[in-house]
Formats: sequence, structure tokens, C-alpha cells
Amino acid sequence: MKRIAILGSTGTIGVQALEVLSHLDTYEVVALAAGRNVERLAEQVRRYRPQVVGVADEAARRALRELLPGERMDIVVGDEGLVACAAYPSDIVLNAVVGARGILPALATVGRGARLALANKECLVAAGDLILRAMRDAGGEMVPVDSEHCALHQCLRSGQPEEVLRLVLTASGGPFRSWPKDRMAEVTVRDALRHPNWNMGQKITIDSATMMNKGLEVIEAHHLFGVPYDKIAVLVHPESIVHSMAEFVDGSMVAQLATADMRLPIQYAITYPERSPAPWPRLNLASVGALHFEEPDFDRFPCLRLAMEAGRAGGLAPCVLNAANEVAVEAFLREQIPFLRIPEVVEAVLERVPNEVPQSVEDVLRADGQARRLAELYVAKG
Ligand SMILES: NC(=O)c1ccc[n+]([C@@H]2O[C@H](COP(=O)([O-])OP(=O)(O)OC[C@H]3O[C@@H](n4cnc5c(N)ncnc54)[C@H](OP(=O)(O)O)[C@@H]3O)[C@@H](O)[C@H]2O)c1
Repeated sequence: MKRIAILGSTGTIGVQALEVLSHLDTYEVVALAAGRNVERLAEQVRRYRPQVVGVADEAARRALRELLPGERMDIVVGDEGLVACAAYPSDIVLNAVVGARGILPALATVGRGARLALANKECLVAAGDLILRAMRDAGGEMVPVDSEHCALHQCLRSGQPEEVLRLVLTASGGPFRSWPKDRMAEVTVRDALRHPNWNMGQKITIDSATMMNKGLEVIEAHHLFGVPYDKIAVLVHPESIVHSMAEFVDGSMVAQLATADMRLPIQYAITYPERSPAPWPRLNLASVGALHFEEPDFDRFPCLRLAMEAGRAGGLAPCVLNAANEVAVEAFLREQIPFLRIPEVVEAVLERVPNEVPQSVEDVLRADGQARRLAELYVAKG
């Protein structure tokens, strides 16, 4: 039996991860952590009987205890509780919380030599070098859950690192792929939450609409695979069937294709290096018919450009970009700022926070906080 902890168990990825585990019989869920959806969490606790359960705050702790009066479990609270769930003895931690909140649990996981199944890309964007160093020091490992990186992880198994010419990350282009720029000024929250191919949590859905998500993924790929930025390209592929490709020096392009279903990459990150049979629908290329590819438009999607520039700048820039984006996306979801203001807030914050190389996680968290405060000021301006 392998022991697994799931952080963000009530979210889109967390729920699908538990579904995956329900058809794999060699895994024991030892820890679950969520925010405030205690009804869903209580159902999961009844079914999987974890030893530790994390919730966002005291109110959620009381509500969970009321729903499960006789349950033998430790309930841990807040960001400290999240770290306690990651630190609890397990073989695998699936980090599927949203945002920079995922940094400390990621460090706690790789720092004790466990496998980090990584959905929370923001932690790698904000603190990639520190997380990789902790992983190398402790002999931990990281297997990506993001479908593009799961694809690349598979493609890269067909060659040596020095044979890789470049990585090509595919992008659906989101709901506004073919919208002219002036129409994008009118985008509503409802429009932006309507992703053509994937059903995901709200934050990543907005990031897909601005294409910030692809920019974050470029930074994630740089850290995960140790490939320089000038060897990572983005290609728009509206069907989301080719999940990414590796191009080798001999001209071969190796791609991974599958239906747009996150259960596959989640399962891969759990069972790697083995593959398990899967019950979900398989890809039928004849019914897909045609696959299309086009260059990304950096003018209509400035978030993609900003993220790639921040990645190249390195140091604290990706952390600042990520924090400002989290604040701007929240503000857009609350209808405090229009869609096109998201990249403006991010760019303004990037210009104001001095860039330096972080020496510790405290440096990263300080820059994250500073960027958030500045972004809130820009949001308040409308
Ligand atoms: N969804 C996808 O298909 C997909 C694909 C690739 C990568 N990812 C990445 O995976 C991560 C998760 O995305 P998602 O779409 O699953 O997000 P989501 O549906 O919004 O779920 C977020 C999860 O985090 C929990 N949470 C919120 N506040 C928390 C707190 N203070 N402490 C602990 N947990 C807290 C939520 O709990 P409550 O709901 O109980 O409050 C929920 O379980 C993101 O980094 C995203 O970029 C997602």
C-alpha cells in the first residue's frame, strides 16, 4: 500500500484525484486538506478515513467536527495545517491548492524526500529554484499533473536531455482565442469562465482566458525539465488533443495525445513509472478529424508576454508576477476591474517591485506580500 495526501481535495483536481484512487486499489489516503467546503470534505472523510484533515479556519474546523462527531482524525487548521498535512508521513502528496499558498506544503513534501504530484503550478513559478534545491537535497521527486507537463514528461522519455532541441507547450487559446481586441474590452466574468475544452476551478479558468496560465506553464516547464527559456515555445492548438511536444535534434517531434481529461495526468503522477488501465473514454482520432495549430498572439494576450519576460528575468520577478496576477484575477471575479485591466495591474506591479535573487523562502514570501499589497492599490484605482 502507498500512502497519499491530497491538498485541495474538494477542488476540481482533488475530486478527480479521489475518483482516480477509487479504481486503484493499492493506495491509502492518509491526509486530506481543503478550504471551507466542509460538506464535501466530510463525505470524503467518511469514505477515505484519513488520519489528518486540514481546513482553512476555525469555523470550518468546528463545522467539520459537528458533521463528523465520532470520527477519529486530527483536524489541523490554516496554512500551518496545510503544511502539517504535507509533512505527515506519506509516499505521495498531491498539491492541488490554488496559488502561492502551495509553496510551503511543496517545500515540506520534497524536503522529506516524498513525491510531489504537482498540480499547483504557482508554487514552482514563485519559488522554483528553492523547491528544486530542497528536492535535490532530500532526494525527493516531482511528477507534474498539469496536462502539458505530463505530456512533456512522457515525450522526454524518448531521448536524452542533450538531444532535446525545444519543448512546445500547446495552448487551447481559451474562450477569446479568435476575439478581436476591442471586443475583449467587453468581456464579462461569465464569458471568461466559459472555457471551450476544460472544466476547471475559477482561478485557472480566468488564467486560461488571459493566457497567463500558459505563461505560468512556461516557467513551470523551465524548472521541471531544466530547459532554458529560449528552448520553450507556445503553440495554440484549439482542440486540446496534443497536450505538448518535445522536438529533438534529429528533427523528430514526439507528442502526447489524449482526450482532454485531467484524470489521466493525475493518475500518471500517482502511478509513475507504471501505467494503470483507465476506465475513462479513449481518444478516437477519426472522430476528432482535424487538428489545428497557430502562433500565439502576444498583443491580444499580454499576460503571456509578461510571464515569459518575468521567467527570463528570473529572481523574484515570477513570484511578483504570480502574486499580482492572483490579486487581479480575484478582483476581476468580484467585478472590481475589467478583464483587460488584469495585465495592466500585473505589469504595473512588476515595474515597482525591485528584482533580486531570493536566498530563502522568507525572501519569496516577503516579495509575494509586497506584490499583493501593491496590486490591491492598483485594483482600488479601478
Ligand atoms: N482544474 C484543472 O483542470 C487544473 C489543471 C491543471 C492544473 N491545475 C492547477 O491545480 C491547482 C488546483 O486547481 P483547481 O482547478 O482544482 O482549483 P479549485 O477547483 O478552485 O480547488 C481549490 C482547492 O483548494 C482548496 N482551498 C482553498 N482555500 C484553502 C485553504 N486556505 N487551505 C487549504 N485548501 C484550500 C479548496 O477548498 P474549498 O473548496 O473547500 O474551499 C479546493 O479544494 C491550481 O494550481 C491549478 O492551476 C488545475
